[in-house]
Amino acid sequence: MTILAVTGWGGMLGQAMTREIPPAQLRLLDWRLLEGGGAAACEAFAVLQPDWVIHCAAHTDVEQAERDPDTDYRANVALPARLAELCAQAGAGLVHVSSTGCYGAWKDTPYVETDRGQPTTVHHRHKLAGEQAVRQSGCRHIIVRTGWLFGGDAAGPKNFVWKRIIEARQTAQMASDTSQRGVPTNCTDLARQIVHLIEAGGQGLYNATAGGSASRYDYVAEIVRLAQIECRVVPGPAFPRLAPVSPNETAINQRLDDEGMNLMRDWRDGLADYVADLLEAERCNG
Ligand SMILES: NC(=O)c1ccc[n+]([C@@H]2O[C@H](COP(=O)([O-])OP(=O)(O)OC[C@H]3O[C@@H](n4cnc5c(N)ncnc54)[C@H](OP(=O)(O)O)[C@@H]3O)[C@@H](O)[C@H]2O)c1
Repeated sequence: MTILAVTGWGGMLGQAMTREIPPAQLRLLDWRLLEGGGAAACEAFAVLQPDWVIHCAAHTDVEQAERDPDTDYRANVALPARLAELCAQAGAGLVHVSSTGCYGAWKDTPYVETDRGQPTTVHHRHKLAGEQAVRQSGCRHIIVRTGWLFGGDAAGPKNFVWKRIIEARQTAQMASDTSQRGVPTNCTDLARQIVHLIEAGGQGLYNATAGGSASRYDYVAEIVRLAQIECRVVPGPAFPRLAPVSPNETAINQRLDDEGMNLMRDWRDGLADYVADLLEAERCNG
């Protein structure tokens, strides 16, 4: 039986990973133990004996990373570097979750894995450096670049989908940015894809986003439509951001396609299931 240890299990993707992995195979690895390195981290590995670690823990606040790069560096470069060394020593494989933001802003069309990384923000420079540290460690690894994740409980602090539903219920018209494009990706789909990659013997770098692409405007309009709310969504300007995020975070899962491993659905299908789940949970909770 393959033992899969998950870091960051309280986060959006981490939660989905813990639901996807059968309980007998699942172990939880606390990223705080790894931060200090040393004996505690080695002991955690000795106890858990993972075949693979699925590293979902990260500092994910792109805006905050511009103000406090050190915290972001510790989480997104130093931590995966330490984890990768431990995996190399223990003979475990590492799935490192990264971002399509690593490609940067030099193309108008979706990025593929052979495109160079030229990130435009502190956070994405760190995510790219974290990938490089994983490669340099010599551990067996799969690096998954994803983006625009949604999932988890309605109450989650980063729940973009639920926040738009609440907002749309309170107003007749909402404006949303047409200039930024990405691929809204269901965390449950990504969790399934990651387990499949491990089982199917994937190695190296893979894009793993949903199929298709959307502007923020398309995304918000689809959320409102699926939730059947009488609110008009109109094209609007980009909201001001500290982080110079690329206007194009779209990607194609070229390697997953080439290797016959692509399980990712179109973004609209993943979103439809998720909105239905949120509304069903609301009905059940009264
Ligand atoms: N969300 C997106 O749209 C998106 C886009 C591209 C890539 N990704 C990548 O996908 C992965 C999962 O993202 P997510 O959206 O699920 O993240 P998330 O919901 O923000 O959860 C991240 C988890 O990381 C842990 N964490 C918080 N601060 C940390 C720190 N300073 N150092 C280390 N770990 C810390 C937390 O664990 P505890 O709960 O134990 O405190 C948290 O549960 C990350 O690698 C992220 O970079 C996400």
